[in-house]
Formats: sequence, structure tokens, C-alpha cells
Amino acid sequence: MIRPIVLYGDPVLRREAQPVRLDDPELPRLLQDLWDTMYNAEGVGLAAPQIGVSLQVFVVDAAPLQPEGEPPFKEAFLNPRLTATGTACVPHEEGCLSIPGVRERVFRPDSIQLAYYDAEGRLHERTFAGIVARIIQHEYDHLLGRLFVDYLSPVRRQLVRKRLHQIARGLVEAPYPTRTYAH
Ligand code: NI
Repeated sequence: MIRPIVLYGDPVLRREAQPVRLDDPELPRLLQDLWDTMYNAEGVGLAAPQIGVSLQVFVVDAAPLQPEGEPPFKEAFLNPRLTATGTACVPHEEGCLSIPGVRERVFRPDSIQLAYYDAEGRLHERTFAGIVARIIQHEYDHLLGRLFVDYLSPVRRQLVRKRLHQIARGLVEAPYPTRTYAH
């Protein structure tokens, strides 16, 4: 089911998400809703807090952004833990379905190692690089209550400040269903 995407300004995006129980009977539906909502919005990743669920779950389908020849990457991540990061930081332009219309360059480690459970409850520890590592780090941040705009320089932050206020006040249209935090 396509769920409305929670927009910037909603406190659920700033909360630390709780671990999910792998035998939670609601889990298959949550995963399906994340996939449906992400694909409907033409995103490459979506974290549970972005549909208002403060649990440590996110989904990634990097295929639209992967270089030609790279095997398409699609995975669900439950209770992920970052176990190592590469030493080189690289820039890349990022956006976020919860912050429509804002795209900014963010520096992040070029590779990461992550322990996580997949949708079938199997434990993995894998190394990721390139665009896949980029998307995973962005989504992982959502589980910690962090957003990509937190990394901007004071100057860049000032430039997007007005837009962020507009989003938080529900004055911005997105080409997918959204939910603004009601005061
Ligand atoms: Ni995001």
C-alpha cells in the first residue's frame, strides 16, 4: 500500500528508531508498504520513519542510479549496524523524499561495512561501495534521526533554510502523497 511520505519538520524524522522484532507479524506489511511507497515516488531508498514508523527498517533499490554493467542492487535492511567505514570521503549530490526540491552535495565515506538482517531474517555482514554505499548511509541516517541537510556548510544551510521552512509548513508540492506535521 502506498503511504504518505512524512515531510521535513515532523519529529518522527528526528527520533532514533527502535529495533524491529524479526517475528513482528506486521513486518511483511511494513516492508511491502515501504517498497510500494518508494517505487511510487521514484525513490532509490526509503526508511520506515519516512512513513511514520519509528523502527529500524529501510529498503534500497539502487538500479536507477547504478553504472551500466553493475549488478542491480535491491535489498531490505532490518536492524542494521554500521561496523566500519572507508577512510576516503567522496562528494555526491543527494536528495530526500522527505525534503522535496532540495538537492545538495554531501561528503560521505566511499565504502562501508554493515551488519543487518534481510527480509527473511538472515544475518549478513557485507561491504558496500559506490552509489549503493551512498544510498545505504543516507537511509541508515534516517534511523538515527539524521537528515542529509545536517551535513551542509553554514552557507549552504542558509541557502536552503527558507525552502525547509516552506516544506515544514506544508507549502510545497511533491509529485507523490505526503504528510505535513500538524501543530
Ligand atoms: Ni532520505
